[in-house]
Amino acid sequence: MAETKGLFISFEGIDGSGKSTQARRLADWLLDQGRDPVLTREPGGAPGAEEIRRLLVEGEPERWSPETEILLFTAARRDHLERTIRPALEAGRDVVTDRFADSTRVYQGATRGDLRGLVDQIHDSAIDVEPDLTLILDMDPAIALQRGLARQSGEDRFEEFGLPFQQKLRSGFLDLASDQPDRCVVIDANTDADAIASAIRDLVAGKLG
Ligand code: TYD
Repeated sequence: MAETKGLFISFEGIDGSGKSTQARRLADWLLDQGRDPVLTREPGGAPGAEEIRRLLVEGEPERWSPETEILLFTAARRDHLERTIRPALEAGRDVVTDRFADSTRVYQGATRGDLRGLVDQIHDSAIDVEPDLTLILDMDPAIALQRGLARQSGEDRFEEFGLPFQQKLRSGFLDLASDQPDRCVVIDANTDADAIASAIRDLVAGKLG
């Protein structure tokens, strides 16, 4: 008989909101609980998807049209789903991912023209999976942008769209959370990292029952 499926958790938020740190802290905590989590990220999370990532996060802001981006992010996600996420969940492991489909809904679907219909169509036909729990880290876009650019990661293509873009993203994520309240929880990420991590642990502990 197949084992119980693992829990699928995504972290979402604007660039520089602290998702990556919190995703790692949650995965460490799950490990301490005797679970066997997989910590992963998008775009990327599988060798082919990581190759597509480079095409997306480097280079000039106008390198790709939003429509082309939707297709590239979805191609990367499909690979991530096939090679990493689905096998892990089916083996009973929890998956903690730094971004998933909500990033495409907001970054490509709601910031440069209204492409949400196209995003939804492509998602339904190529992905059609949602996390059990989505943690949206909400913080002041001006502070988040400073943090993101200060990292000088060479992966700043989206940060380079500037503050108004980050503000649009923030409201896009908040709208999504109110549209899908059964799955999405907004976390106030303006406080310190320990307090955020403990709020997240309480939520996940509730899900684990
Ligand atoms: P990420 O590595 O999470 O960057 P950061 O740690 O700075 O938040 O994601 C890389 C960039 O790709 C980020 O600016 C968000 C963007 N992105 C999209 O535009 N659409 C998507 O579907 C995904 C997954 C990411």
